[in-house]
Amino acid sequence: MKLRKLGNAISVKGKRVLIRIDANVPVVKGRAQDGPHGRIARSAVDINWLSQRGAKVIVMAHLGRPKGRRVPAYSLKPVAKRLSGLLGSKIKLTRSVVGKDVEKSVVAMQEGDILLLENLRFDSREEENAPSLAEALARLGDLYVNDAFSVSHRAHASVDALTSNLPSYAGPLLAQEISVLSRLEQKAKHPFILVLGGLKMSTKLPIIKRFIDQLDFVLIAGALANIFLVAQGFSVGKSVFEEGVLEEAKWLLSTHGEKIVLPVDVLCVRSLRKDAKRTVCSIDQIHEKDRVVDIGPQTQKQFEQILHQAKTIVWNGPLGYCEIPAFAQATEQIAKVIAHQTSHATTIVGGGDTLPVIESLHLADKYTLLSTGGGALLQFLSGESLPGIDALKTS
Ligand code: 3PG
Repeated sequence: MKLRKLGNAISVKGKRVLIRIDANVPVVKGRAQDGPHGRIARSAVDINWLSQRGAKVIVMAHLGRPKGRRVPAYSLKPVAKRLSGLLGSKIKLTRSVVGKDVEKSVVAMQEGDILLLENLRFDSREEENAPSLAEALARLGDLYVNDAFSVSHRAHASVDALTSNLPSYAGPLLAQEISVLSRLEQKAKHPFILVLGGLKMSTKLPIIKRFIDQLDFVLIAGALANIFLVAQGFSVGKSVFEEGVLEEAKWLLSTHGEKIVLPVDVLCVRSLRKDAKRTVCSIDQIHEKDRVVDIGPQTQKQFEQILHQAKTIVWNGPLGYCEIPAFAQATEQIAKVIAHQTSHATTIVGGGDTLPVIESLHLADKYTLLSTGGGALLQFLSGESLPGIDALKTS
């Protein structure tokens, strides 16, 4: 896939560059929860790069889903604070998204200055992909850069409509994600292993289906595995699983069962408390009162053996209920094994739920790609088109 990229060849000196980033991170007590490899931290690298090259950098982002209203809890103040800390200078936040006051602030900018626009989603026209908002945003800039892969599945004004109004480019962070991800389809080396965990099978099934002929193995854990266990006739007790996809799971097992690797043992608890008594059960011993919260040691060993041979690994979703650290053991171990493989394999890891575990283990820079994308990554890997990416393709 070829994108119009913002490389060094395009001069930005003195130009007003509108850059869309993804700053959508949890905020706790007014602080953006963004580690050294978080979304804001990674975007800051490219913002700084533009500023150093003499651009007047106008940063656009959203936080949460305020549904077109000005909701103070979703103000980008914590993002401005985080960016200021990362960039070593106070980043000004506008009061409105667009309008006369914002235009005045832009006119006052010097080369290298950085200005952050207030939450785009305070304006209902953002999610409506409204040309009028795109035009108002375009008045602020000379060129547009999309550096937010993780929002590129949204046909929103700052992602899609705006590209019709200004020369538009892929920023370095977005371009790198697309470059690694798009090599998968044509050039994935074998053994090619997909590791899936988490809760929602319906968003991951299209990925399995799309790559199943290329894949050597699909390792399935987390609540996702429960569906397959039920499809095989096992009881998963009180564990959660998505019932609507049971038939699809059965179909996959009957058509490609040799590639699907499921848990042979699991960690069970009777309550989701961190001090709950934990029992390792083989999958035919799960009691009706049990909840499966992690894979068991035998399964972990089997997963590791397969991963040690891999030349391409794609991992999305936690292997257990890792909101509780006591149930994150397998997720942590697999995070380490995949990181270790990076020296001789392409390793692609989807952030989201696994990011806190990965950051706590200081592994964030140990993969070929730690994607910023949640929904966008799943959609891209499913082979669906992303409006923000389509708008940047060279014809
Ligand atoms: C994300 O967090 O995945 C992106 O920022 C997109 O957010 P959204 O799902 O609210 O559109």
